[in-house]
Amino acid sequence: MTDLHSYQPAKGHGLKHDPFNAIIAPRPIGWISSCDAEGRVNLAPYSFFNAFNYHPPLIGFSSTTWKDTVANIQRTGEFVWNLVTMDLAQAMNATSASVPHEVDEFSLGNLTKLDSELVKPPRVAESPVSFECKLSEIIRLKGADGVEVDAWLTIGEVVMVHIDKRLIEDGVYQTAAARPIVRAGRRGDYFEIRPDAMFEMVRPA
Ligand SMILES: Cc1cc2nc3c(=O)[nH]c(=O)nc-3n(C[C@H](O)[C@H](O)[C@H](O)COP(=O)(O)O)c2cc1C
Repeated sequence: MTDLHSYQPAKGHGLKHDPFNAIIAPRPIGWISSCDAEGRVNLAPYSFFNAFNYHPPLIGFSSTTWKDTVANIQRTGEFVWNLVTMDLAQAMNATSASVPHEVDEFSLGNLTKLDSELVKPPRVAESPVSFECKLSEIIRLKGADGVEVDAWLTIGEVVMVHIDKRLIEDGVYQTAAARPIVRAGRRGDYFEIRPDAMFEMVRPA
């Protein structure tokens, strides 16, 4: 018999660190640029992030409390997702600082703004992949008891994709070539995706 550590989250996990986000890990990072109604730019990372549909391509992230990013997107209906690579790890982390609304986090990370084509928020010029997105919906999350919680799932449609051509080989996008970083648990655990971590497994017919 396996000796299990079992617990009901509502009653506490009983460990040094909550294992929840170390188990649902590693998670891709949504590095989201947005603008407020006055055009002020915002940039922040969200690792409760993923893709949810192919056609149209839909991506989403959860803001645990009502933060500037979700407020901006609700007002303007637009955002940009930027890929975080190993080279950009420190800059990404700097943009997660809790700073007043008027602070432009591009400057915190010494990052360059690149105009988007279909939406107003700029892209991170240093990031090799960006998705320009239009808001599809913002869903307030609920517990199993139906009670609303202070968390907001923002879903957007990807309307424009930009990929550094160095990441495309023979017409195939090379996920690991960009050396993406992904979020694990504890206070600051991450993994770097490297080519040797990949294996191929094709679905049964
Ligand atoms: C790697 C990483 C992942 C994060 N993921 C989330 C997340 O999924 N949801 C969230 O609400 N905050 C997350 N944060 C914290 C936000 O980035 C932080 O609160 C930030 O200040 C929010 O910025 P904003 O108010 O400009 O939107 C994360 C931070 C880091 C460094």
